[in-house]
Amino acid sequence: MNKQQGFVSGLEGVVAAQTRLSHVDGQRGELILAGYRVEEIAPSATFEAMVFLLWHDRLPDAAELAQMHIDLAQWRMLPTAALELLQAAAAARRPAMDALRMAAAVCDIDLPDCTVDDRRCDFALLARLPTAIAAYWRLRQGKTPIPPDPALGHAANYLYMLTGASPSSARVRALETYLNTVIDHGLNASTFTARVIIATQSDMTSAVTGALGALKGPLHGGAPGPALEMVFAIGKAEHAEEYLRAKLAAGERLMGFGHRVYKVRDPRAEVLAAAAEALYAADGDRALFELAKHVEATAVRLLAEYKPGRVLQTNVEFYTALLLHGLDLPVALFTPTFAVARAAGWIAHAREQLATGRLLRPAAEYIGATGRVWREHATPAPLISSPWWQSPS
Ligand code: COA
Repeated sequence: MNKQQGFVSGLEGVVAAQTRLSHVDGQRGELILAGYRVEEIAPSATFEAMVFLLWHDRLPDAAELAQMHIDLAQWRMLPTAALELLQAAAAARRPAMDALRMAAAVCDIDLPDCTVDDRRCDFALLARLPTAIAAYWRLRQGKTPIPPDPALGHAANYLYMLTGASPSSARVRALETYLNTVIDHGLNASTFTARVIIATQSDMTSAVTGALGALKGPLHGGAPGPALEMVFAIGKAEHAEEYLRAKLAAGERLMGFGHRVYKVRDPRAEVLAAAAEALYAADGDRALFELAKHVEATAVRLLAEYKPGRVLQTNVEFYTALLLHGLDLPVALFTPTFAVARAAGWIAHAREQLATGRLLRPAAEYIGATGRVWREHATPAPLISSPWWQSPS
């Protein structure tokens, strides 16, 4: 369709790609991942199986799944240049997303002949992002990075490289469910960024690095942190109503509630609530989980009272916060952990875009001045007479 359209602010509702990867139905509260309902597949599949599903549009057989483990394991170690950058970023106390963006950009330094069609870059990027986050976080704390364990899967390795302890199966399951749940979500801003970059036939490292830059912004990567802080600030179930009423009466927003697309409960919140419940039952602070459930129920009830007709329901951030906290991840690593999952979606979208062979090049509506007439002006004398590379003495 090449029909000329008028300006659409924020591209809202503009269909800019066709995809087999995920479908978001905000009215019905549905998220479909390559044909599977998120609530069906996310709590059961391994992360490696989900990656295979997005990258091949079908689930792997046993041999293909084993090969996926091998392919990721062989690329998990970081090149020295990435480690050095992470060291510098940690010393400068740069935020974790900045450190991850810097490390991602050099992830292909040991793949000098990697062309845009070469899948080794896909594996190197996906495999190395969790290694980079874990190494950065340990360096920030003055600790030595822990090398990946080739016997562990993607989710287990991430937890292992953060602490050095082999995670329980309940923890690995909880993290895999989280990663699977947020692996892809339609044409969100970072995914669109990845598609725009790869559509120029640039390279996968540029696409993923650009997507990380887009994800970093607070309007996208979001902040599950404030949702968690709210639960902690409430502290006890009996304080919830008073606390939430005060916020709403002051015109403040309740973090973890409401969504631009979902006009019913975000299906990802459902999946993550069940995963958090299982995690906290097996291995966590059950009282915190019960408090969060109470806060959620009170918030939904009060939102209906204060914002009648708005249908403000729990979103993905609320239970993301609880789940990642239950895995002992610090708030600073919440968005980078989201990137660990979404990178698989970015790469799948980039490959899908590349296959179309079509450059993404929208139009802009010109609203500037017209009819200005050029007149010769006197040329000002140069301020510095010496060239820029010779500092004036
Ligand atoms: N708490 C209180 N009120 C909320 C609210 C929330 N979490 N989310 C929306 N509203 C209210 C707005 O104040 C507005 O009320 P008004 O019309 O009386 O002024 C109305 O609902 C519509 O808000 P709007 O910002 O236009 O809705 P949106 O669909 O564009 O907003 C969000 C989507 C996510 C930006 C919004 O729900 C929000 O800010 N949520 C809290 C932050 C959050 O959890 N973000 C993570 C999203 S995954």
